Amino acid sequence: MTEHRSPDARFRTSQLEENEGPATNPTDNRTMGEIIAARFSRRGFLKGSLAVSAIAATVSPLAMIAADDARAAEGSAFKFDELEAGIDDRHHVAPGYDADVLLRWGDPLFADSPEFDPAKQSAEAQARQFGYNNDYVGYIAIDGSAEHGLLVVNHEYTNPHLMFPGLVRIVDKDGKKTPELAPLSKEQVDVEMAAHGGTIVEIRKEGGKWQVVRHGKLNRRIMATTEMQLSGPVAGHDRVKTNADPSGAKVFGTINNCAGGVTPWGTYVMSEENIHGYFSGELPEGHREAANYTRLGIPEGAYEWGAHYDRFNLAKEPNEANRFGWIVEVDVTDPNSVPRKRTAMGRFKHEGAESIVARDGRVVFYLGDDERFDYVYKFVTKGSFNAGDHAANKDLLDDGMLHVAKFAEDGTVEWMPIVFGQGPLTAENGFTGQADVLIETRRAADLLGATKMDRPEDIQPNGVNGKVYVMLTNNSKRKDDQVDAANPRAANAFGHIIEISEDGGDFAAAKGKWEVLLKCGDPSVADVGATFSTATTANGWFGMPDNCAVDSAGRLWVATDGQGPKATGRTDGLWAVDTEGAARATSKLFFRVPIGAEMCGPLFAPDDQTAFVAVQHPGDGGEDWEGFGRPSYYEDPSTRWPDFKPDMPVRPAVVAITKKGGGKIAI
Ligand code: FEO
Ligand code: CA
Ligand code: CA
Ligand code: CA
Repeated sequence: MTEHRSPDARFRTSQLEENEGPATNPTDNRTMGEIIAARFSRRGFLKGSLAVSAIAATVSPLAMIAADDARAAEGSAFKFDELEAGIDDRHHVAPGYDADVLLRWGDPLFADSPEFDPAKQSAEAQARQFGYNNDYVGYIAIDGSAEHGLLVVNHEYTNPHLMFPGLVRIVDKDGKKTPELAPLSKEQVDVEMAAHGGTIVEIRKEGGKWQVVRHGKLNRRIMATTEMQLSGPVAGHDRVKTNADPSGAKVFGTINNCAGGVTPWGTYVMSEENIHGYFSGELPEGHREAANYTRLGIPEGAYEWGAHYDRFNLAKEPNEANRFGWIVEVDVTDPNSVPRKRTAMGRFKHEGAESIVARDGRVVFYLGDDERFDYVYKFVTKGSFNAGDHAANKDLLDDGMLHVAKFAEDGTVEWMPIVFGQGPLTAENGFTGQADVLIETRRAADLLGATKMDRPEDIQPNGVNGKVYVMLTNNSKRKDDQVDAANPRAANAFGHIIEISEDGGDFAAAKGKWEVLLKCGDPSVADVGATFSTATTANGWFGMPDNCAVDSAGRLWVATDGQGPKATGRTDGLWAVDTEGAARATSKLFFRVPIGAEMCGPLFAPDDQTAFVAVQHPGDGGEDWEGFGRPSYYEDPSTRWPDFKPDMPVRPAVVAITKKGGGKIAI
């Protein structure tokens, strides 16, 4: 144990609360979230679907009929019968669809993989099996097929209290049943490290159902121990040199890979998000990285890796943390390729990395920094995408311009270049070159006066309508005097979505226009100030937008993170959100997750006939749900999804959703 680690932090039960930034508001004003939480807990005596009825009852039946009529008349782009919102221990999909579990934590990926044995899990076995807490899901077609390709999946983090038997003990603390977590053994830490990273696995659709091709020759696990190369402006810099790597270019592993992307040239892009949790120990007195690490919340000590591996202990390897917080690019065509950390794309708590080819052939990546009051970024490559020669795109991500967004009150957005020597990014402010600027991207953006946002998550360019959708998940710490046009609600418990139209329809433009597409939350509670269309039903609204996708028809799908019994009275899920015409800002529930889970993915196969979704951290929580009402852990989880076998733990899994009888989804 290190002095920095709070025992509770190791439960990592809420990514929602983890992203406490240094700029967060320390006051204890009652937030909108707490007001709404009180509202839902008062109806805690109501059971499952009754609780949903209670919410529905706040909208008059007449209004609901009118809503249905309105939706029909206004031409929602989505045709499916809406799923009922609610909370229970399993997943649900809209009527007429199948939602089949494709890949679960521990599933074998290779011919020689051992079968999953949760009571005897080892790092060696985990390295040959699907990892934990699936987040981003991408599809890279093989020979252009929509039914045969590589599925790429990020494994964001680990929940030891749900992964390992015998770790949790329930104690009575002030009359409340409280879980305590024993220290992890080195073997368990090694399992955690092997359960992180990503999976590349061949899949094929046969007879309308997706199958994993266990012998696929490109199948691969990326882990927290996989050798990687730092590339771009920071490679070889003194600030990324360590005792183990005097070259400052060879890093082992990637961690906390949240949303991500697939590039136009078919590589897999992983983002490193909450890297602060993996580091513990104290920097040597007066160390030059002190302010840099404070700005990122390093160290948090939520993981025990530093107790077993010096590189995660700041006292022993003060520079190691500068080697994380990057975008990682993986060439999936060679299972032995060395992934590259593309430092030109900046270092922060990277959420997704979705990209699009601009009119002139340069490639534009939209990048969120998920922390309260942090920023929205855009990276534009210097070189152009070469569709005919994939090798020519190999190092496009090493050279380009990183920008940060300033959202003005007049509805314009300016993309400000983050370049050493320009504006305040000079020696006077402690930067000696572009490497310094990139290592401390947040401080550079602070100096440029970027707009402090309500936790930017996934950002999706839409090649069909030419717009860009920015998920802002929530920010309960924003005070009344910190409200601005792009972050219009104080104590923003439910988040919002911004739509950007780049000038001239050019994704590489230096400026654009923006508007709020949607303020989220329960529209029947006036204080929330949600702005779903009136055609949105009591099942259709959501809070906390996080990952998102655009299908090939250009329709927006939004996954959520952080709903539940107290926050919204419903589990997380996947919602279809209209962006066009009179139906704009109408939302419909398509899929929902079991208790305790967050909805990740989502990803549509190129033919729109499959939606892949990732159910992350199922069973993580349940105390607040009347169907369980006690701490959830390995021996006593709030759900044993998806196997529902007494000897199987709850397992994060990727689910493939298809229409019964085939066909495009929601058409
Ligand atoms: Fe990993 Fe920002 O969600
Ligand atoms: Ca996310
Ligand atoms: Ca996405
Ligand atoms: Ca999130």
